[in-house]
Amino acid sequence: MSIDARSLSPEATYRLMSGIVVPRPIAWITTLSPMGVVNLAPFSCFTFLSNKPPLLGVNVGRKAGQRKDTGANIHALGEFVVNIGEGSQMLAIHESSAEHAPDVSEAELLGLGTLPSETLRVPRLADAPVSMECRLQQVIPFGDTGAEFIVGEVLRFHVREGLLHDGKIDTRALDPVCRIGGPNYATLGEIVTLRGMRQTPKSVLPETAG
Ligand SMILES: Cc1cc2nc3c(=O)[nH]c(=O)nc-3n(C[C@H](O)[C@H](O)[C@H](O)COP(=O)(O)O)c2cc1C
Repeated sequence: MSIDARSLSPEATYRLMSGIVVPRPIAWITTLSPMGVVNLAPFSCFTFLSNKPPLLGVNVGRKAGQRKDTGANIHALGEFVVNIGEGSQMLAIHESSAEHAPDVSEAELLGLGTLPSETLRVPRLADAPVSMECRLQQVIPFGDTGAEFIVGEVLRFHVREGLLHDGKIDTRALDPVCRIGGPNYATLGEIVTLRGMRQTPKSVLPETAG
């Protein structure tokens, strides 16, 4: 099937692209409102951008033309925490996406405890296996919907005891949750380790392969 991308409505494009770009990791973001309410919501248009400095990016859309609470809070305070949830938190991740007034804390509503951050005013989730304290670095608007790609610099990593070995995360123990399309999620399946990649020495490569 061949689909003319320009013939699709924004909704149809969203359905298609969010089913193609899978699986997506989930940034479970805590922010603080100007009134001091801890907001929590999941965002799966999320990626790692740079390691020097450590940068993360998340695409935050709008609701009825207005910034979502997460976007509004990040604009107001310039900080946010990206928490990574685990398999046992899948339902809470999903439920934290429900729409609530800005004075309602999804973290409180779901009975999720928080801990103070070390470099930010925004707290992190106490039970998340990983939390990353981020300072807002850049906001890049994309497209016609008012969506904003929010880039944050990680100032502090919090990793649960036992998850880090020789500087590497034990992915199986992390048990990350990812989003497929709509209300569909997945956890890790088979992990395949490929070793012994043969490299051709540069000296025997033709000039153009450089
Ligand atoms: C797993 C999951 C991933 C989501 N990813 C995104 C995303 O990448 N960008 C976005 O704008 N909304 C995303 N949403 C929707 C937001 O979580 C939802 O609009 C939420 O109500 C925003 O909360 P807030 O207004 O408190 O910021 C996602 C929802 C779920 C369940």
